[in-house]
Amino acid sequence: MAEPLRIALAGLGTVGAGVVRLLEANSALVARRAGRPIEITAVSARERGKDRGVDLTPYAWVDDMQAMAGRTDVDVVVELVGGSDGPALTLARAALDAGKGLVTANKAMIAHHGLALAELAALHGAPLRFEAAVAGGIPVVKGLREGASANTIERIYGILNGTCNYILSEMERTGGDFADMLRGAQDQGFAEADPAFDIEGVDAAHKLAILAAIGFGARIDFAAVATTGIGEVSAADIAQADALGFVIRLVGVASLSTREGETPHLLQRVRPCLVPRGHPLAHVTGATNAVVAEGDFVGRLLFQGAGAGDGPTASAVVADLIDIARGDRTAPFSVPVAELEAFPKADPGHRLGRDYIRFTVTDRPGVLAEITAAMRDAGVSIESLIQRGRASNGGDVLVAMVTHEGPERCVTKAVDLLSGSPSLTAPPLVMPILKD
Ligand SMILES: NC(=O)c1ccc[n+]([C@@H]2O[C@H](COP(=O)([O-])OP(=O)(O)OC[C@H]3O[C@@H](n4cnc5c(N)ncnc54)[C@H](OP(=O)(O)O)[C@@H]3O)[C@@H](O)[C@H]2O)c1
Repeated sequence: MAEPLRIALAGLGTVGAGVVRLLEANSALVARRAGRPIEITAVSARERGKDRGVDLTPYAWVDDMQAMAGRTDVDVVVELVGGSDGPALTLARAALDAGKGLVTANKAMIAHHGLALAELAALHGAPLRFEAAVAGGIPVVKGLREGASANTIERIYGILNGTCNYILSEMERTGGDFADMLRGAQDQGFAEADPAFDIEGVDAAHKLAILAAIGFGARIDFAAVATTGIGEVSAADIAQADALGFVIRLVGVASLSTREGETPHLLQRVRPCLVPRGHPLAHVTGATNAVVAEGDFVGRLLFQGAGAGDGPTASAVVADLIDIARGDRTAPFSVPVAELEAFPKADPGHRLGRDYIRFTVTDRPGVLAEITAAMRDAGVSIESLIQRGRASNGGDVLVAMVTHEGPERCVTKAVDLLSGSPSLTAPPLVMPILKD
């Protein structure tokens, strides 16, 4: 058999220890599929003495992980430390500069610096892979970059954060509110002690930016992702959505407008959405992730599975290593980095779709008339309207409506017309309805 692929593991936490376990358990199978063994030569983390549930004695311990980039017994550095900048980025740059391959699960780093790292990789002829950075164990990066590579991708969307999906589907199952479900997620180890990145949608936005870059051949543009988290979604919204035939999910959507004669514009958004009960994403519950890609010839592809966890994430990391061991040099973002396009940001006001709007209003006559007048003046056509129950503070009433399909700018205008109205006791919540 050919020479082994020698790897250095930086980070031995959930994912790093998972990679050690997988390479121990499946070493023969991995070697057969890769055409050569994949061997760990060096490992690094902060605390040498920590029990990680794996035997690290066969490998060289490196106190300063930055030294891994300079080692002559390392072909590929596997960065499993995390953080968009700091030591992870320094190591990633140093590894590529030294002509070594880089495999990472670090979505934050790829979302912020993926383009610069891909340029560095191209400059040094070094492989760069990040399957585990998007939706953990689901092979969606490879699926888009390779399996669907013959298609014009029209839209990519999905449930990209397991914590948010767990919270929303538990709210749906139990009728409980957001704060209780978040606590439950933390108790079960799904949500971080500081869950802000998850519940504010930032983690999903990192993954969406990566998928959009691959699917559309775009220069990655995380700053252009408009992001809204799930903190405003109430138990009442879930109940209203249910009554109307929908479930609520945090969905990242990327689409490229391709109107004839116009420069294509890229729309990237992460928002809580109403998903029709018949849509495959409506059945994705708990911490599962799912991504839909729509191609002009293949049609709708659905990728679904575990978006996190040591086993699934290690599976994706080692799949990348197998590709590298085989000599695969596919461009990390599907086309050579110099050919990636900088698409301008699309105006979300042009989106044609239906929306759910929830108003919290004072319980007095005339309020409904005021809301419907604003809708009329803004050109929004109402499909259904429900006024049901009291808001959680007891004195207010919730009014929920679904609009007919129309330009999103009209809904924005209607909400603007009502801003400052003494009838509204809280800002309205607008959630788009996912198109089938
Ligand atoms: N966990 C998942 O399910 C999952 C899924 C997909 C992607 N990811 C990504 O995978 C990466 C790793 O995640 P994780 O969950 O495995 O994190 P983790 O459990 O917190 O592990 C991080 C590891 O990095 C080490 N480390 C941190 N700072 C360091 C430094 N300055 N120098 C050396 N080592 C340092 C830690 O050392 P000590 O152990 O000594 O403290 C630890 O071993 C992140 O980018 C994450 O976003 C994770």
